[in-house]
Amino acid sequence: MPKANLERLFANNRAWVASVLADDAQFFERLKHQQAPQYLWIGCSDSRVPANQIIGLPPGEVFVHRNVANVVTHTDLNCLSVLHFAIEILKVKQVLLVGHYGCSGIAAAFDGERLGVSDNWLQHVRDTLERHRPSIDALPDRDSKLRKLCELHVAVQAVNVARTTVVRDAWSRGQSLAVHGCVYGLEDGLLRNLDIDLTHPDSVREVAAKAFAAIEKRAGEGLEA
Ligand code: CO
Repeated sequence: MPKANLERLFANNRAWVASVLADDAQFFERLKHQQAPQYLWIGCSDSRVPANQIIGLPPGEVFVHRNVANVVTHTDLNCLSVLHFAIEILKVKQVLLVGHYGCSGIAAAFDGERLGVSDNWLQHVRDTLERHRPSIDALPDRDSKLRKLCELHVAVQAVNVARTTVVRDAWSRGQSLAVHGCVYGLEDGLLRNLDIDLTHPDSVREVAAKAFAAIEKRAGEGLEA
């Protein structure tokens, strides 16, 4: 990156600090002493899906993990460590698994494109595609197929979060913790609730079944905001 471009970022940063301090002179001093977010956001790395801005929360209020196509696997030490830190140490109360329409990772998985090493990562999306292939193929156009795959993928990843040892241990300790599934629309900036609310180990299967049924029902129509 040319130096001039970096200079722009540092200038932006100084302007941001000045505007924050103009509103609240103690802002950084206060944040330095405490981090107590209520939310963990697990979303896509896509530059168009910035967690804090979308849900209107300032620094200090949302713990964030992002990766290509918001995948949660049971052997990803990075994601598991984020979950552990957020849930056991910071005691977040809500985990939001956030997918987004127009996701390049979902589209690449759908098309079976060979991109490189990330194909292996996106194979998790393809697994979901293969499991739901007949109902996805039944949709009339590419856009509705991709939207449905995006929603199904969110539901599967939310269930994956609920099945980690970190979440199961929290529930068995009696810790209040809910895992939700949402989809963000690049085209309108709106976050949709997929009504996947996982709050107890015994209801994961039932909530997931309802969520998959609701996705089937909505397919092709899009979600009401
Ligand atoms: Co994406």
